[in-house]
Parts: sequence; C-alpha cells; structure tokens
Amino acid sequence: MWTRACIFDLDGVIVDTAKYHFLAWKRLTDDLGIIFTEKDNERLKGVSRMASLEIILEIGGKKLAMSEKKELADLKNKWYVERIARMTPQEILPGTLEFINELKRNDVKIALGSASRNTPMILERVGIKNVFDAVADGNSVHKAKPDPEVFFKAADLLDVEAARCAVFEDALAGVEAALNAGMICIGIGDKNILKDAHMVVSGLYEMDLNKLIILEKKLGYEHLI
Ligand code: G6P
Ligand code: MG
Repeated sequence: MWTRACIFDLDGVIVDTAKYHFLAWKRLTDDLGIIFTEKDNERLKGVSRMASLEIILEIGGKKLAMSEKKELADLKNKWYVERIARMTPQEILPGTLEFINELKRNDVKIALGSASRNTPMILERVGIKNVFDAVADGNSVHKAKPDPEVFFKAADLLDVEAARCAVFEDALAGVEAALNAGMICIGIGDKNILKDAHMVVSGLYEMDLNKLIILEKKLGYEHLI
C-alpha cells in the first residue's frame, strides 16, 4: 500500500474533549457576560487556545489588552485541565485502538498531530502514550492549522515523506492543514462540513485498512506503488 504513516488529530478523533473545552469556555463567557452557544463552539475546533479566545471576544464584541487575554486564556485552561485530569481510558472513542492496531500489524507508522498543548496529559490519562511512534502537538509547533506545520513535524519525526502520510481530522482547519501538507485526508464527522477531505467517516469505528487501500486506488496512487 502507498500510505506509510497515519497521523491522528486528538480532540474529536481519538477522544471527545470538545465537550470539556466547551464547558470551560462557557464558564469564562458567563463570567464575561458573553452569550456563547454549542454552535459557536464548533468554530473553535482545531483552533489554538489564544485564537479561540479571540473568536469568543469577537462574538462578544469585546476588545482586551494582550495581558488580559493571557489571563483569561490561562483561567480557561485551568478549568479545562481540572476536567481532563479526571479522564479515563473508557473515553477513547470507539474503534480507535482496533484501527491503530490493524495499521501497526501492517507496518504503518502512527503519529499524533494536534494543536493542543495539553496533549501529553490527555494521552497519559487515557493510557495511550506509548501507542504513538511520534507526537507533534501545540508544544512543539507554533503555526496553527490550517498551516501544515504540525503534520510536517509529525512526518519528519517519523522519517516518512509527507506524500505518504494519511491524516485523520474532525476540524475544517485540520482538513485544510492536511491538504496543505499534500497528505491524504480522511475527515471524521459531517460530510457537509468536511467536504474538502478525500473521504469522510463518522468515526474511526468505520475505518479499516481496506477502506484506506480503496481510497489510495481512487486517488490514483496504485500505479506508483
Ligand atoms: C484542539 C482543539 C481546540 C483547542 C486546541 C488547543 O485543536 O480542537 O478546540 O483550542 O486544541 O488546545 P489546548 O489544550 O492547548 O488549549
Ligand atoms: Mg480535532
């Protein structure tokens, strides 16, 4: 097969932390008197912490100094960390480990590519730190998705050329980042939202190696192998 490595986003692909992000942002927006809905929360998927705060302040029509913004982002993160500190291995989304194990049995390398600076803690809490051959996250990269930096970094760490990586992403910005990296992209979630992805499934429980091979053929990689 063409793909040598699979790179997984974390939030929304391997674990559902979007709900914890939402609760922490909601607590902050309630304090600030900003109306913030679950629909607004969709806009924050895949977006870095500070960029998320900027979007929230824009929704609330508030302008703050950088020092105040930093304080608010830190406060939100404190509340978020209180939640994720209680995560358990039961929170790994269905089908994740089965699919990753199938890939590993077939010599496909596995990496994580997430904007979250809390990645190490989440991986530790849900007990999958050792599953990945490489981890690229918000602590090791500086340009936010849709910039491809985080996926290039993962490919680099794995020593696999970008063109032979496939990315699994639930966020629009993440799909764009994968495409900008020249990688195969499988969207996780809604086909209407992730329409630029090469293929969309509802969750990793719908994925298997065969589907990836069929996608490679459809994309015309077959004759290159
Ligand atoms: C992921 C999530 C975003 C979050 C970002 C930063 O991309 O989808 O909602 O804002 O990570 O997370 P952090 O844990 O560093 O605040
Ligand atoms: Mg995500």
